[in-house]
Amino acid sequence: MCGIVGYIGRRDATPVLLEGLRSLEYRGYDSAGLAVVYRNKLHVTKTAGRVQDLRDRLSDNTNGKTNGKTNGKTNGKTNAKATVGIGHTRWATHGEPNETNAHPHTDTAGRIAVVHNGIIENAEQLRDQLADQGVKLASDTDTEALAHLIAAEAGEGVTLEEAVRRALRHVEGTYGLVVLDILHQNELVVARNGSPLVLGIGDGEMFVASDVAALVRHTKQVVYLGDGEVATVRAADYRTVSRPTTVDAEAGDYELGAFADFMRKEIHEQPEALRRALRGRLDDRFSTARLGGINLDPRQLRSIRQVKFLGCGSAYYAGQMGAVLVEELARIPAGAEPASEFRYRNPVVDPDTLYVAVSQSGETLDTLMAVQELRRKGGQVIGAVNVVGSAIGRECGTGVFLHAGPEIAVASTKALTNMAASFAMLALLLGRVRDMSAAAGQRIVSGLRALPHQIELMLAGEDEIAEIARRFAAAEHMFFIGRVRGWPVAREGAQKLKEVSYVHAEAYQASELKHGPLALINATMPSVVLVPADELLAKNISTIEQIKARGGPVIAVTSADLPADLADATIRIPRAEPELEPLLLNVPLQLLAYHIAAKLGRDIDKPRNLAKSVTVE
Ligand code: F6R
Repeated sequence: MCGIVGYIGRRDATPVLLEGLRSLEYRGYDSAGLAVVYRNKLHVTKTAGRVQDLRDRLSDNTNGKTNGKTNGKTNGKTNAKATVGIGHTRWATHGEPNETNAHPHTDTAGRIAVVHNGIIENAEQLRDQLADQGVKLASDTDTEALAHLIAAEAGEGVTLEEAVRRALRHVEGTYGLVVLDILHQNELVVARNGSPLVLGIGDGEMFVASDVAALVRHTKQVVYLGDGEVATVRAADYRTVSRPTTVDAEAGDYELGAFADFMRKEIHEQPEALRRALRGRLDDRFSTARLGGINLDPRQLRSIRQVKFLGCGSAYYAGQMGAVLVEELARIPAGAEPASEFRYRNPVVDPDTLYVAVSQSGETLDTLMAVQELRRKGGQVIGAVNVVGSAIGRECGTGVFLHAGPEIAVASTKALTNMAASFAMLALLLGRVRDMSAAAGQRIVSGLRALPHQIELMLAGEDEIAEIARRFAAAEHMFFIGRVRGWPVAREGAQKLKEVSYVHAEAYQASELKHGPLALINATMPSVVLVPADELLAKNISTIEQIKARGGPVIAVTSADLPADLADATIRIPRAEPELEPLLLNVPLQLLAYHIAAKLGRDIDKPRNLAKSVTVE
């Protein structure tokens, strides 16, 4: 949700922190700030807006243009060399996104600074108690209470780590936090409960971040802190319960390279990402899939009576695609539900159901809570997670890693494709331990293997889709229409358009149109209709005719040879095995959303009001 960085070593901390914040900005981008220690003083600089605004503010300070702009605790020389500091890029939860509410937060004396991700649930109570004790709170945030609590515990002879531990005893909620204390300048204290925090181990220097994106340029040796861990980090040493691991990512994975934005870069990375997800998992000998990570033997796989996918947003729609695949290929009842709904409705947890928690980030709080609820009730839950070491991946213990590589754009593209491909493999595996024949299994194995190249072919036709996007970019509303296999794809297509272009979009099942929404069709309401060349082709053609008869423009996305002039625009996709066609149908919808957003001049990678991983309720 928000991004955290910390540094302690020999280098000038400010540029290291700023660079770290820049690489984490996708996690939250309404305000930013940093605190460094220089000449025994804490220097805090904060600003509403983006990391670039913070950078500008710092250079203004250095150039002496401080007039009314610096936070009260800076002396206007925040760019001077400091070798320890913390920083934050925020996505507001408590209090509006302004300079005062930006992190770091400090205690009254300006001794202790804190950056925090997550939510302190008893913040109101803590703030009231502090106010009763005469503490003047400067911001509206939950985090500021932490700074005051730690300061109150940080008495004579008490280590900073101990003060943080004591303060956290009063706190309910989730946190990843880094604490800086001018009286303990040679260390940072880190603590984690629910929100991710990773240490980067350098040579005589240490880094802290909420995401390895900020670390890989400096080191590949990292420690993912476990929930409940509190640790002290010094330039040359650290002590944690969790063990160090090597990150499997390159700094270039987090850079734009030749692309103007990450969404388009990640759309184009899909063939390679999909190859990674399939690698070593397709078994020609037994015409099945090998998913060792789920750790279930054939007997256990056979005893599964139902499959339920749980996720949020696009991960939920991917789960819906998975449910269709499982029902079709394995003939096991399957469904998908938003993880947030599931956790709040006191769900009946069935011991014979396989629950699949779906998440790119592995951090989404609603999904994590659904997993915890399932485990508490004895449910059998596996993860389908992209980020290794993430909370959902750890909590599930078993599952399928998506291998999509880092996804930086807020809008999910390649992770969703890999989710759907992973569910196709799961469905194949479940089918092959039941009644699916080897020939039918081999058809799916070959179909999956063909997908990456088919996606390449579609990406090569991007210019035509961009042209169609430009033609329809003035629309204020759009329908996305699909049927059965196409229905979750339509939902995902509408979601993608909404989030990156802010064009209002709604998805409908083709069969539902005549039960109400058809009333909205007119010349200003384009419909994107998904028309796979499957057994429902004739029905989908008649859907297009119904829309055209009411004057509605139609963009058909199809693998079939549609009658000429049936639609106002046609996007052709390669023909895949019918069950796998949703994976292809989705790609032109990503491009359509992207190019409409580009035409409208949107900030594509950082859509308004959104953040990449939603670690709050
Ligand atoms: C849409 C999007 C969101 C996420 C959702 C779940 O493009 O990115 O809807 O899919 O917030 O996130 P993860 O998959 O990280 O749990």
